[in-house]
Amino acid sequence: MSLDIDFVRRQFGQLDDDPQFVFASNAGGSYVCNQVNNLVEHYNRHTRVQPYSNFPSSAEAGDAMNRARQGWADALNIGLSELTIGPSTSMNTYVMSQAIGDLWKADDEIIVTNQDHEANSGTWRRKAIEKGMTMRQWEVDPETGLLDVEQLIPLLNEKTRWVFFPHCSNIVGTANPVANIVSQIKDNSSARVFVDAVAYAPHHICDLKAMDVDGYAFSLYKVFGPHQGLMYINAAIYADLTSQAHYFLTGDPAKDFNPAGPQHAQVAACAGVLDYFDALHAHHFDNKGVAPAQKMTDIHGLILQHENQLATPLLDFLDQHPDVRLVGKTTTDDNDRAPTIAFKPLKQSSQSLASKLQTSGIGTEYGNFYAHRLISDLGLDPEDGVVRLSLLHYNRVEDVEKILRELDRALD
Ligand SMILES: Cc1ncc(COP(=O)(O)O)c(C=O)c1O
Repeated sequence: MSLDIDFVRRQFGQLDDDPQFVFASNAGGSYVCNQVNNLVEHYNRHTRVQPYSNFPSSAEAGDAMNRARQGWADALNIGLSELTIGPSTSMNTYVMSQAIGDLWKADDEIIVTNQDHEANSGTWRRKAIEKGMTMRQWEVDPETGLLDVEQLIPLLNEKTRWVFFPHCSNIVGTANPVANIVSQIKDNSSARVFVDAVAYAPHHICDLKAMDVDGYAFSLYKVFGPHQGLMYINAAIYADLTSQAHYFLTGDPAKDFNPAGPQHAQVAACAGVLDYFDALHAHHFDNKGVAPAQKMTDIHGLILQHENQLATPLLDFLDQHPDVRLVGKTTTDDNDRAPTIAFKPLKQSSQSLASKLQTSGIGTEYGNFYAHRLISDLGLDPEDGVVRLSLLHYNRVEDVEKILRELDRALD
């Protein structure tokens, strides 16, 4: 069975705006599925009131928000009380650095990487500096940008409180084997683990209990949805955290880690992403009685197959081109290579190449994409950075063919 790409594309109205344009900047934010747009419009037209009161529009607003929260908890296989829906991942990690870091002591240690987007790096580093702690860096291979778990183990010791790393870097585009890394961390220390999945979730919504992480965060505006950040915090560790809510609201996990408060219409619209996934599942599989987390696994099989088909010719072309330095794995053979493909043109600036592609109708970007440390440690100029072509499962094989034609011309 393969992904019905025509069905997929019918769910994204924005794809009709300019059929010639190839959107290849999805890692910056995806198109929004129609199901989400419909929910936002419905909320704003009919239930735009303070939710959770007993008059009809308010009760309906509260029900819509509850549906979204319960739906995402089920999809991630976590408890409802373990889900925070906040304004963004950067804001969620910032708040968590207060909640997690308040109880850190000078003698404690943390491990961060130089592969992460700054949202899963700077805020933990600042807190550790404030507390006078030791901070260790799990470093990428400076050529490929890949992380190797063998390099992490010697950094762990009995003082390590937390390890922070990405599920997938927004530049390297290669998934780190989270379950395996977590089990090695837990075998070698009592550290907790927080994973930034912003660059991975658009390709696969994971069963979080199966991976045994303590914290996990991603942004729905990159997963076909509204501009919201979803964050899981394992209920078993609440005792180690300080609430960041108003004093009279503490003890409600939905509020403890979101001092911004819920953005009502946006929260309600988070359910639209799941409605899209449901429709996608029902279109391809017998949908009856399938558990929500299993649906995500089924869909992932289809998406992976299609995304590999998109990534392979691009990786082959870039890997073989003499004027290009490709970052990350060069093939999809291990099924861990997202079609988020970053490279440095060797005979012109990234800015110049990106601009040529943009002029040819390809939505791409260049720069450091807030992975400033990674770009620097790859030996690249963090201002000019890399060109990034990032695709999602609504992209077509024809899109890749156009990108290859235009790349060939622009690199010449
Ligand atoms: C890998 C990664 N982590 C974190 C973030 C920050 O997410 P947000 O924009 O929701 O703060 C981004 C945003 O681009 C990202 O790509």
